[in-house]
Amino acid sequence: MMLRLGDMAPDFEAETTEGRIWFHQWMGDSWCVLFSHPKDFTPVCTTELGMLAKLKPEFDRRNVKIIGLSVDSVEDHKLWAKDIEETQGVALNYPLIADRKHVVADLYGMIHPNALDTMTVRSLFVIAPNKTVKLMITYPASTGRNFDEILRVIDSVQLTQEYKVATPVNWHHGEDVIISPSVTDEEARMRYPEGWQAQKPYLRYVHEPSPHRH
Ligand code: BEZ
Repeated sequence: MMLRLGDMAPDFEAETTEGRIWFHQWMGDSWCVLFSHPKDFTPVCTTELGMLAKLKPEFDRRNVKIIGLSVDSVEDHKLWAKDIEETQGVALNYPLIADRKHVVADLYGMIHPNALDTMTVRSLFVIAPNKTVKLMITYPASTGRNFDEILRVIDSVQLTQEYKVATPVNWHHGEDVIISPSVTDEEARMRYPEGWQAQKPYLRYVHEPSPHRH
């Protein structure tokens, strides 16, 4: 069964570079980015995993745990980690799952045989603390992902989960947001007494809400 937005992220037990984990328990009350890469000791993956290690403080700030996966062994992951540190200038600071038997890859649909026979493609899932799937993206092996975009989406998903707003095209944290269509003008007047800017009755911009201003 294909995984879809809003579904419960499947739980699993797995071997990782930081020992055996039970996924939901490992997540605890955090958000999670679960991502697959095709293969250890490959060039694009080396740059991706290094960049994620550099960006880890940004994920930490958003209460997001990172965990990677491929069908390689823990031994290979650990050996390759040395190359990542040497070439990318940063040590791996999050676990990598060794999914030798494709258990997790099958649960999450990470193997696309018509694109890449038995290896995982570049799948990525953002999972909320209640374990539901909030974002899914799939990139081909030849294209490295843009993890700034993942942080941008996490900012949007975390904001729109808390307030009745949506974020417009190319939005970044700190920029104006859109009042949800489900919010009537009457309700909006209570929520935003300072007003909003309406380009159309359904296209109403307000400052990004925060605990101090909403
Ligand atoms: C890479 O990471 O560079 C890569 C991995 C598998 C297939 C093609 C490219």
